[in-house]
Amino acid sequence: MDAGLRHMLERMPKAELHMHIEGSLEPELIFALAARNGVALKYRSVDELRHAYAFTDLQSFLDIYYAGASVLLKEQDFYDMTRAYLERARADNVRHAELFFDPQTHTERGVSFGTAIGGIHRALQDARTEWGMSSALIMCFLRHLSEEEAFATLEQALPYRDKFIGVGLDSSERGHPPEKFARVFARCRELGLRLVAHAGEEGPPEYIRTALDLLQVERIDHGVRCLEDAELTLRLARDKVPLTVCPLSNVRLRVFDKAADHNLMRLLEAGLTVTVNSDDPAYFGGYVNDNFREMFAVLPLGRTHAHQLARDSFSASFLPPAEKQKLMAEVDAFFAS
Ligand code: HPA
Ligand code: ZN
Repeated sequence: MDAGLRHMLERMPKAELHMHIEGSLEPELIFALAARNGVALKYRSVDELRHAYAFTDLQSFLDIYYAGASVLLKEQDFYDMTRAYLERARADNVRHAELFFDPQTHTERGVSFGTAIGGIHRALQDARTEWGMSSALIMCFLRHLSEEEAFATLEQALPYRDKFIGVGLDSSERGHPPEKFARVFARCRELGLRLVAHAGEEGPPEYIRTALDLLQVERIDHGVRCLEDAELTLRLARDKVPLTVCPLSNVRLRVFDKAADHNLMRLLEAGLTVTVNSDDPAYFGGYVNDNFREMFAVLPLGRTHAHQLARDSFSASFLPPAEKQKLMAEVDAFFAS
């Protein structure tokens, strides 16, 4: 790739909108927290753990991802994990980050909702005061668990309502369609929460349609399989429904065989609002700039696409309109210079 384009991708102001904070736990930090907390791991070394990151599909990743999260016990553990991600994101010139977290992964192990969200939120506050980086938290329901468990999680979350802006839906997609959570999402909508859902990663385009129609989500996480359905693609373009795309994740989880097969360029050509994100950076081979560099290296993407992706990362965010405008103006000024 041209050095100028590369520099531009790295330095352009950007937002990251699809990043699971538990997926930012690097093997070194997993081992450090395991030692600090006396948690036994079934891997003997950082190298052995990294070696296990040879995924064949979403489920093979999730099994290891939930095992990694088992070292998180104390508020400070959640703080340290979040702080490490924010430092990496800052190095990639991420100006605004909307983070997912999976409370059920922790509450099922006896770690309280307050411990998890407290540590994550404190790190976000520090990044705001120290660096001026803005952020928001989105709590995800694990779709392999029941509707009843999702409702119970929502109850636990309500005392912390000021610390998160919305809800999402993640974990094993196949066999767990959006309609399973229609009533929970309806309740969240009544509470004024912003709504997103993973759909069309491994699951069929139909899951994207039901996420829109039955959950009334504002963004689709992944959504790359929409191109299999021409009518759905037109609808997403017409309604400007953002897709938070995670290229390296899609390659590692075999949604596409290799980076050059990724449909990012085709999504853009279809007129869709798309953003580039890292999903689970510690597991999928890189942070947000790694995702940009890889896609621009293997696809015929150029400066105009970079400008659009940077702009849309803010336009698709849940920032207040005035903040969005300010950051998009910064992007425009960056590309004008
Ligand atoms: N898909 C579904 N659930 C997840 C993912 C993902 O890529 N990462 C963390 N939880
Ligand atoms: Zn995800």
